[in-house]
This record gives sequence, C-alpha cells and structure tokens, in this order.
Amino acid sequence: MLGSTLFFGRNAHNHSRGNWKLPTWFAPSPAEAHGSQCGFCTPGFVMSMYALLRSSKQPPTKEQIEDSLAGNLCRCTGYRPIIDAFGVFAKTDDSLYTASPSESANGKAICPSTGKPCLCRNETDVNGNESSLLSSVKTYLPSSYNEIDGNAYNEKELIFPPELQLRKIMPLRLNGFNGVRWYRPLKLDQLLQLKSCYPEAKLIIGNSEVGVETEFKNAQYGVMISVTHVPELHTLKVEEDGLRIGSAVRLAQLQDFLKKVIAERGSLQTSSCQAILRQLKWFAGTQIRNVASVGGNICTASPISDLNPLWMSTGATFQIIDVNNNVRTTVAKDFFLGYRKVDLKDDEVLLSVILPWTRPFEYVKEFKQAHRRQDDIALVNAGMRVHITEAEGNWIVSDVSIVYGGVAAVPLTAGKTESFLVGKKLDYGLLDEAFNLLKEDIPLAENAPGGMVEFRSSLTLSFFFKFFLYVTHEMNTKGLSEGLDVANMSAIQSYTRPVTTGTQGYELVRQGTAVGQPMVHLSAMLQVTG
Ligand code: FES
Repeated sequence: MLGSTLFFGRNAHNHSRGNWKLPTWFAPSPAEAHGSQCGFCTPGFVMSMYALLRSSKQPPTKEQIEDSLAGNLCRCTGYRPIIDAFGVFAKTDDSLYTASPSESANGKAICPSTGKPCLCRNETDVNGNESSLLSSVKTYLPSSYNEIDGNAYNEKELIFPPELQLRKIMPLRLNGFNGVRWYRPLKLDQLLQLKSCYPEAKLIIGNSEVGVETEFKNAQYGVMISVTHVPELHTLKVEEDGLRIGSAVRLAQLQDFLKKVIAERGSLQTSSCQAILRQLKWFAGTQIRNVASVGGNICTASPISDLNPLWMSTGATFQIIDVNNNVRTTVAKDFFLGYRKVDLKDDEVLLSVILPWTRPFEYVKEFKQAHRRQDDIALVNAGMRVHITEAEGNWIVSDVSIVYGGVAAVPLTAGKTESFLVGKKLDYGLLDEAFNLLKEDIPLAENAPGGMVEFRSSLTLSFFFKFFLYVTHEMNTKGLSEGLDVANMSAIQSYTRPVTTGTQGYELVRQGTAVGQPMVHLSAMLQVTG
C-alpha cells in the first residue's frame, strides 16, 4: 500500500498506463525508472523514502534523500535508477513550491500523499476550530511519546491507527516459547525491581544485537526486559560539565541532539560532539540508528564498535545504578574488561553517559576504515583527542588520548605513545618515534582475527598521521604552528560525497522491436506497490 502511494501519486495525472514511454517532463515511478529488478530490496527503499517524506516538514533535498536510503542494499539494479526515481521528491526548484502546504479551493490542506484534504501540518478546520480527531488524539497521546519525541506526533497526519494511539501504555509481562519471559517496565524503580528478581535478565531496546544473537547464534535468554519506556534512561540534557545522554537514547535521536547542540554552541566546546556526529553518519544505516541505543552499543561491547573508542578518548564517563538505587560513575576507559565483557554487575544498569565539553585548543577526531563506507563494519576505527596548552612560550601537549577499535578484543589505548607525546611540542620531528611506539602499543599478530594484518597495522599509523596533520592545521589557522605541505592538505578533509548524478543511454539496436529498448519488466509494478 505504501509503495502504491509513491507509484500512483504521480500517475494521478491520467497518463496512459499502457504506454511506459512517458514524456520527459513526467517524473518516473521507481518501476518506470527501472529502479526495481528482482524486487528483493524494493520494499526497503520504498519504506525508507516513505518515512522520510512523512517525517519531513520541508521537501527533502537530494542529500537528505540519499542519506535516508543509506542502509538499503541493492544487489542487482544499481543505485543510479533508484536514486533517479526517488530524486523527483527533492526540492530543486523553489518556484515549484509555496511557502505553506498545498490548499484546496475550500482552504483545506492537501495531503501530499493522497491528494485529499487532510490534517497534515494543519491543526484547525476551515472555521479555525481544532479538528476533533486531532484534539482527541492529543488528549490521549501516550505520555512516553511526548517524553521521547517532543511534539512530533502532534504535528503530522497520523501514521498509526487511532485506536492504537488511544491505547494507554501499560507495563507488560509476556510469556513466550520455552518459558521465555518478556517484561516492559515504565519506570526506573520497576526496572530495578525486575533486575533484582532476575539478575541475569537481558535488557533490550532496539533488539538490533540481541535479535541477531537469538536468531543466528543460538543465544537464549530466559528473561528479557525492554527498557524502551523507562523515561529516566531517555535523558538528553545540556549540563554545565557536558552532555548527559540516557542509555536508552536511540542513535538517531543522539544525532539530532548533537546537531542542535553544535548549532547552538558553535565549534567552541563541541569538538567531541562533532567527532561523534561524524562517526554516526557511517554507523550502520538509518533503520538501525532509529532503533539501536547508545547504551546497547556500549554494553554489547563489540570490539569493532565505532563509538566506544570515541567515548574512551573523549573522556566520557558512565553512570551506573544498582538495584538499591546506588549510583556510581566510571570512566569509559575502564569500562571494557574483555571480549564482550564490561564493568557492569548483574544487579546494575547503565543509566547515562556524560560527554564532557572540550576546552579551548582541545581537538577530537574520529576515524573509521571499512571495505565499504556505508553500512559496513570497521576494519579499524579510532578516536583521538589532544589538548594543547601554552607553557613558557611553547604550545605543548598537556593531555592526549589515542584509542583504537577493531584491533583486539577490547578497544586499545596507545599508552606508550600518549606518555611520549605529553609535554612535547607537536611537530614533524616526533613522528618517527611516535610511529615506533604505536607499533608497540597496537600489536597485531600475524594470525590476528580479521586478517589483513599489514593493512590494518598501516591504518593505525596513518590514522595517527592524519590526526597529527589535523591538529597541526588547526593550530596553524590560529598562527600557532607551521603550515602543512600542500601535498598533505587532502588528509585533513573529512570525506564528503557529492549527490549522485548519472545518465544511462539506450541505443536502439533494432527499430520496431523490444531489443535495446528500456522496457519496464513485467513484475516491476507489483514490486514497487506490494
Ligand atoms: Fe534486486 Fe535490488 S536487490 S532489485
């Protein structure tokens, strides 16, 4: 049904459905643009596009469209026709848009999906009265949605059936196969009570890790506790010392929050925020970031977590609460004890992460190298931070943190290199010694899991070299360091990919036959409409 919205939305112009050679000014549907071949990936692309259109207040840009499709992999069509098909939704020409939502002759807002009067972005009827449907929904809006997502649910046409919206959120206890029990508490004290009864219980938020474990790795958990509705774990606050990030905050929510904080505060104090935000762009895909949580990723303790080296290098601390309500704080650097083993007892729960502000002349940078830039796990990743201060007329390293992921069972700190750098002026002269120490700090045995040892070892050095260049350049912009060689300038630029462009020519091999013609295949319409 959702696919049909995208497809038939543009065929409402009464064009012949039997002739697929549409005039060039007519925007093609995913099928007409040859965006679907076997159709396996098509529902994912259509749903991603649908979600973007339904949640955007403004027509999306081409960049937003491509970002929203990241995380969908197509193995046969190729992305050019898919992006072409969805590109018709991009706002490329201001003259085609009005400042306010479309209105019909009687002044009602027009739903962009159905073309009929609707409640999108319009909370009043033609007489200026609040719509009864909308007002009833507001009255019964689940409190947790308000807490988690502000007013987003008030402002849009309903996505869920009203009867489901009207259901009060209740604590849940469900029984599954083989005696599995599944709980959903609504308060922190309920969660702690459950944890004291079932210390071995597995906490779940987006199920993006546990789901894989139980489906594909035969993991079994007798008791599972979903903490999606525990408000205390959803904190997102700007505090004096930094940001407080609840452990159940979704990664997509964290992205939005970091963008706001950076926009409000500028680059001052937000070097760590910027590094985490840049790293999140390459963290899985939109669908996973929408459900996976900050705390889930931390406690899963994957050796290739893209974020854990950053939490460690930025000096983040973790707040942990036990079943007796005692709260303790530990630095992220001490939290990861072994392969998927963390400093969290059975009667404890990760409450929040405190990400400190960065100080003047403190720089943080993220690194990740994978086979494919999007939707892929890292071969090696890293988080690095340095604080430079003035001492007797020299600008020297007063504090530095270098942490690598993907090189051992836990993220590794380059301790010897850090000690060597402290107190020194960051210049080219110390690079050789730093590289030698890095090789000792981050050893990769010939038979190290993951293979490609030589390549991964060279990555550890090249990440540090890039960090050195980045900091040197930043100091140079303040007139406090020598400039970079032109040859090295490209190393300090963060990767950005321009929007995709491409054309495909069809050469007519034999006039009057199907050979060489861009024919829409027979299943395409069904594939894009479900
Ligand atoms: Fe076959 Fe995308 S995987 S059309």
